[in-house]
Amino acid sequence: MSKIKRTDHRRRRFIQGAVAGAAITAFAPSRFAIGGTAKVKVGILLPYSGTYAFLGEKITAAMKFAIAQAGGKLGGRDIEFVQLDSEAKPPKATENTNKLITGENVDFLVGPVHSGVAMAMAKIAREENVITIVPNAGANQLTGPLCAPNIFRTSFSNWQPSFPSGKVVYDDGHRNVVTMAWNYGAGKQALGGFSQGFEDAGGKIVKQILTPFPKVEFQAYLTEIAALKPDAVFVFYAGGGAIKFVKDYAASGLKDKIPLYSSGFLTEGTLKAQGAAAEGIKTTLHYSETLDNPANRIFRPAFEKATGKSADVFAVQGYDTGLLLLQAMNAVKGDTGAQKEIITAMENAVIDSPRGKWTFSAAHNPIQDFYLRQVVDGQNKVLGIAHKALSDLAKGCRMG
Ligand code: PHB
Repeated sequence: MSKIKRTDHRRRRFIQGAVAGAAITAFAPSRFAIGGTAKVKVGILLPYSGTYAFLGEKITAAMKFAIAQAGGKLGGRDIEFVQLDSEAKPPKATENTNKLITGENVDFLVGPVHSGVAMAMAKIAREENVITIVPNAGANQLTGPLCAPNIFRTSFSNWQPSFPSGKVVYDDGHRNVVTMAWNYGAGKQALGGFSQGFEDAGGKIVKQILTPFPKVEFQAYLTEIAALKPDAVFVFYAGGGAIKFVKDYAASGLKDKIPLYSSGFLTEGTLKAQGAAAEGIKTTLHYSETLDNPANRIFRPAFEKATGKSADVFAVQGYDTGLLLLQAMNAVKGDTGAQKEIITAMENAVIDSPRGKWTFSAAHNPIQDFYLRQVVDGQNKVLGIAHKALSDLAKGCRMG
């Protein structure tokens, strides 16, 4: 389907709803009542199984929570969510994205968590011109060579949270570091960000170890690290894999000998399960549960009460996705056909997030602060700001 036809379809659906609504509310029409009849379709492609399952669940719950808190509508219209399990499997991403775009004709697409899934999804979303909000996947390309007017990211690029860790590790006095990550886009790009920051400061990467995704058999690699005897180790793992890695690192005896650093995903949503094994780990991330700002103070208890889930960075990214949809749809009073105006509203959005207020860069990626955190008594305690208002590199981004 061509770009123009798809947008026309959205406007038709909006107008049909409006006419039907006008008939029903003939004696007291209001914009809200008119727009309220046709549902806005939001397609969600996130993992609900596998190592990233809890990330997908938190993002979904928090996005819905943000919208429910604002009255449960987008620009005055009811919403239909169409949810698919991505399984964090790139080979299934094209079929799943097509199911939502062509099969369901969604107005908005939200997802995914996994960078490999994101690459496939973004290519189709660009082609089909569907407004897409990425609430986690950090693939640098999305706000680099694959950037597009209709693609926004409310989370981070993979480079972003790891880059500030480089200077942190160097300033802690470490000079020789082993890096380790899952062997796919996110892992490699996270290590790339760290290495850039660390080498710029004067440090040396002794060895980069890549392990198959989503496997969690780490023992052989930990034995190798023990033999290499670096000053410190920097890793990227998240979700179920992060729980296993941190426990294995402690159980192997390395924890007390070689300090462990990471981008903050290693200790997000995982601390209860990791227990004492996580104590002392230093990370950099755009959020911490201990941030003392009004939005975070209100968000955490309200989200936890409403959903029974603990709030973490993934919940915050989902919540901010909901806030963005609300702002944009309110700006066009529910007219999903007004794509240009929706994009402008998104580009100008100021998100009052539990992570701190943020805005979009020209490449549609958050410009945000990255906090230095350390696990103390089962919490990611903020030690300071590792990098203020850090923008993604956006290498190769040309907005068409
Ligand atoms: C990714 O694949 O982009 C990804 C997954 C989980 C994270 C961060 C990045 O926590």
